[in-house]
Amino acid sequence: MSTYAKELRATAQAMVAPGKGILAMDESNGTCNKRFEKLGIQPTEDRRRAYRELILTTPNLGEFISGAILYDETIGQSTLSGKPFTQVMQEAGIIVGIKVDAGAKDLSGCAGEKVTEGLDGLRERIAEYYKMGARFAKWRAVITIGNGIPSRTCIEANAHALARYAALCQEGGLVPIVEPEVLIDGDHTIERCYELTDQTLQAVFTQLRLNKVAFDQMILKPSMVIAGLNCSTQSTVDQVAQMTIQCLLNNVPATVAGVAFLSGGQTNENSTAHLNTMNLKYGAKCPWPVTFSYARAIQQPALEHWRGNDDNTKAAQQLLFHRAKLNGAASLGKYNV
Ligand code: 13P
Repeated sequence: MSTYAKELRATAQAMVAPGKGILAMDESNGTCNKRFEKLGIQPTEDRRRAYRELILTTPNLGEFISGAILYDETIGQSTLSGKPFTQVMQEAGIIVGIKVDAGAKDLSGCAGEKVTEGLDGLRERIAEYYKMGARFAKWRAVITIGNGIPSRTCIEANAHALARYAALCQEGGLVPIVEPEVLIDGDHTIERCYELTDQTLQAVFTQLRLNKVAFDQMILKPSMVIAGLNCSTQSTVDQVAQMTIQCLLNNVPATVAGVAFLSGGQTNENSTAHLNTMNLKYGAKCPWPVTFSYARAIQQPALEHWRGNDDNTKAAQQLLFHRAKLNGAASLGKYNV
């Protein structure tokens, strides 16, 4: 058992406290720059810093956001007036999280598939991040649905890496967010997404057990069970909610501290509606809190309004707060009522 067990349990519970969820703002410089360039924002360290300051200084954000996931560059940055972001977060009651994976790389022997790297030196990096104030971490694995894929090789390689990462996190005092994302890209049906999410979660929990990960000291960050973006039959909100919860109930041990979904390229409205229906209709059946850990579905309107212009900061913060508030309501099944 980790020497941090008690602290890890308390942190995990705080991350999924009622009415709250997690804000993912851990885009790598490459991903952040791509999103900036689409909107004509300069892809510079200064603009990335300004944007992250906008997010973290949003008034009352801690009402609906329990923790935020930062990127390596961001955790060392400060506001323009010199206050470290980690201090801003602590004062706002927002737990500091950090992405620790090194990204999804081509999986040799498996065309079109990826494996997430970053285990080398991870123990030392975790110790460093803990000292900087981080209390939880994230590692994202991606599973692509396509012609003849995913392969067993890809699912097992990613599940194993996720479990190795989670065990190292718990040893070093960080709550692991275990994120196996089954991508929404493609023309697959919702039934095929169910089947592959089921297989993926099964493999992930087998590896977590094998690597002695404590379920009550981790958060699962899954994708929802949903038809591919190019599938001719798109899923209804009720279908997504019902099939996602069924898949989770079949695979996720009751002792897991919480489930916090990624938005994965769904529209803002769908991300919120799906989460709301899951809680409203099936919340009573779930042994774990079911909430959000969204990036795009919380940030997008704020980023589009800001466009790199600091005159737009205040209004952008209001848009961000609004998205956080709606998702906070959805985590209680109280959105739109
Ligand atoms: P999205 O909500 O934009 O999918 O991002 C969540 C995340 O953290 C992806 O790793």
